[in-house]
Amino acid sequence: NQLEMELEAIEKGGYEHFMLKEINEQPRSIADCMRGRLDANNGRLVLGGLRDYMNKFQNADRIIITACGTSWHAGLVAEYLFEEFARIPVEVEYASEFRYRNPVISEKDFVIAISQSGETADTLAAIELAKSKGATIFGVCNVVGSSIARATHAGSYTHAGPEIGVASTKAFTAQISVLTMMALKLGYQRGTLSENRYMQLLSELETIPSKVEKALQLNDKIKEIAAKFKDARNFLYLGRGYNFPVALEGALKLKEISYIHAEGYPAAEMKHGPIALIDEEMPVVFIATKDSSYEKVVSNIQEVKARKGKIIAVVTEGDTTVKQMADYVIEIPETEEAFVPLISVIPLQQLSYHIAVMRGCNVDQPRNLAKSVTVE
Ligand code: AGP
Repeated sequence: NQLEMELEAIEKGGYEHFMLKEINEQPRSIADCMRGRLDANNGRLVLGGLRDYMNKFQNADRIIITACGTSWHAGLVAEYLFEEFARIPVEVEYASEFRYRNPVISEKDFVIAISQSGETADTLAAIELAKSKGATIFGVCNVVGSSIARATHAGSYTHAGPEIGVASTKAFTAQISVLTMMALKLGYQRGTLSENRYMQLLSELETIPSKVEKALQLNDKIKEIAAKFKDARNFLYLGRGYNFPVALEGALKLKEISYIHAEGYPAAEMKHGPIALIDEEMPVVFIATKDSSYEKVVSNIQEVKARKGKIIAVVTEGDTTVKQMADYVIEIPETEEAFVPLISVIPLQQLSYHIAVMRGCNVDQPRNLAKSVTVE
């Protein structure tokens, strides 16, 4: 009815879709997530939920991360973060597999469950299983008071605000923000991160909202790229290191809202199969930011180019090498390698959004999908 439509328009805050609003809210949602927790000037990082469990966390034999979908991708980013900064072995598990596998879990394991809705049935079941084996369970949820938030021993909320679009955007970056703060805190406490490096990382983390803001300004350019590729039947997303989970996330966003078949791969895996798919019809999105695997990704780009694939590359501002090879480049602000996913995912969210809109899809409520998956 009329009233409901008007209310919805108000909720969308002038945006055509919730997804677009939520993409654009990210500078604020990331800042909200860090507010009261991160104070780089004074070298302070406080995660209330962690306080009582810091001992367990610090002395854990292993960190097990469990989640589904986009939240699982955030977990993969966290695997790199925890291993790099805190030197604790990490396993990232699809909740649906973990719960049915009779996994080896002990009291020395620290389990992190990630969920936007806090209602995902598989994730909840994985938590109950790990709990029954005596592990400590920490939740990273967006919805306050949700089932997962209640089932865990402790947790940190992502504070991203309500996410209405079925495709997760701002919840993903908020999850990564919380996990990044956890990894830095843990690394510092364990002494695997020096005081200097810790301080440096905290200051850089504080600049992320403004860098995300800058990345969002590429929207018009991304819309043009979307127009060129909206009729593609397949897409490949490739990245390495911290950008490998971003490639997976870019592909998931595209499939779920535009119904275009897309695959994400670690770029180096291309030669083990997916390279066979490449011809002039295949758009390949590379996340090729200036980091420790940059040179390697550049050679992967060359391999695609030699086979006439169409290259869309997300690069670091000022990059010249990839610019000469790619058909389209998207330049994002530079940051610490470990923080790149928070920025590199932005153009991929925008790309999938525009392609889906141009194809006439219902971006906020894609077919066959629900915002929270409460069935197994
Ligand atoms: C993300 O865009 C998807 N809609 C989906 O993969 C989602 O991330 C997954 O169902 C997990 O949901 P949760 O974070 O609420 O647990």
